[in-house]
Amino acid sequence: YVIGVDLGTSAVKLLLVNKAGEVVQEVSKDYPLIQEKTGYSEQKPEDWVEQTVAGLKKLVQQFDGDVSDIEGLSFSGQMHGLVLLDENNQVLRNAILWNDTRTTSQCAEIYEKVGKEKFIDITKNLALEGFTLPKILWVKEHEPEIFAKAKTFVLPKDYVRYRLTEQVHMDYSDAAGTSLLNVAKKEWSKEICDLLDLDVSICPPLVDSHHNVGKITSEIATETGLSADTDVFAGGADNACGAIGSGILSEGKTFASIGTSGVVLSYEPTGDKDYKGKVHYFNHGEQDAYYAMGVTLAAGHSLNWFKTTFAAEQSFEELLDGVGKVPAGANGLLFTPYLVGERTPHADSQIRGSFIGMDSSHTLKDFARAVLEGITFSLNESIAIFRENGKQIDTIYSIGGGAKNPDWLQMQADIFDANIVKLKSEQGPGMGAAMLAAYGSGWYPSLKECADAILEDAETYQPNPDNVEKYKQLFKLYQDVYQ
Ligand code: XUL
Repeated sequence: YVIGVDLGTSAVKLLLVNKAGEVVQEVSKDYPLIQEKTGYSEQKPEDWVEQTVAGLKKLVQQFDGDVSDIEGLSFSGQMHGLVLLDENNQVLRNAILWNDTRTTSQCAEIYEKVGKEKFIDITKNLALEGFTLPKILWVKEHEPEIFAKAKTFVLPKDYVRYRLTEQVHMDYSDAAGTSLLNVAKKEWSKEICDLLDLDVSICPPLVDSHHNVGKITSEIATETGLSADTDVFAGGADNACGAIGSGILSEGKTFASIGTSGVVLSYEPTGDKDYKGKVHYFNHGEQDAYYAMGVTLAAGHSLNWFKTTFAAEQSFEELLDGVGKVPAGANGLLFTPYLVGERTPHADSQIRGSFIGMDSSHTLKDFARAVLEGITFSLNESIAIFRENGKQIDTIYSIGGGAKNPDWLQMQADIFDANIVKLKSEQGPGMGAAMLAAYGSGWYPSLKECADAILEDAETYQPNPDNVEKYKQLFKLYQDVYQ
């Protein structure tokens, strides 16, 4: 057995997985978000540790086998969150999370001091409020007495791993989201640090995601009931682990994930593809591989908002029942899902959403369909950037909540103009973390072979040519709305 620990934004989810790749136990433990001011989003690292340890303990209690058969564990983590540590590895302040937007002026400072072109050239990404470096600069500027004590920084799952092993590391896939990594060279950028007056020694040692960082400590073994012989593997960023867990491990493989936010992620075999920062470009959890990724900030969040506001008494199933009968284009109604700003392609935290073309004949079903279409158009912006840059995309794995509704799956096929494949069983990033532990433990010669052995396609949705044509026209209109 291995354990995949998925340290998310609202909860930590733990999966106990057997050698056949089946999830035999599942535990979830939540923790609060701290939002003191608009735009602020923080968490207490101690909450993550407490709940992860409690989750491991529960997993062990529920397990009726021999604990010494649990060979190892690994992590998937919410990306970009800043955890500042002092010289004794004590946490200096609350973690500032990926969805915190207080750092607009620090992003401007980064471009000013490093130069936008050079910055994108090194990090392969834009300077975005959500990423880690602007958060470091914010603390340096606003809390100098805290910053003066900072010896190093880590990301959320790195901190939990540290507490389980007493070893400080960061893996490349998560380091890629700090804005301090030379992504292609896989080393910290001393140049960016120098230009921003940061000591590069603040950056922790880098390792691969399947790297064995050591055993759990004897205290953790006693507390959780796990064997003191349990190996710990570094783990990866949640999106990298989502890619592993859905088999995005070779060129041409792409997923569209619709959860609270939406992600389109595509495998890249090398570090030198140049999207000029238009999409994210990060190191994969597979050694020396990469992925390109576009993000829709309010994907499922838009649907959730719509239901809560206009159809609170209905279940999602009721609300979406019959949207497949509304013709493509929602009878002239168009929705843009910029409810909390937009990441790809606009990198604009100020823009807000819209319904356009409302007509007195429109029904709740037309609105529901328009919301699904608007979210899917937003994801298609990322796919369009991939294709404009020469990437061939004819099959896309649909994962997350958006893969649950057959009408939405067909809509994705028609809007993306690609075959949409649904996996037989999908466990997301937690499974990717378990697969890293399985590969690290030597169960498979490669992550790809691990994926081939345990992941299975279930259904394929093919694009309907009439709808494809219709959506091509509508997508142009959708793109014009932002301007
Ligand atoms: C990726 C991003 C989010 C977080 C959520 O750039 O900000 O997907 O990883 O956990």
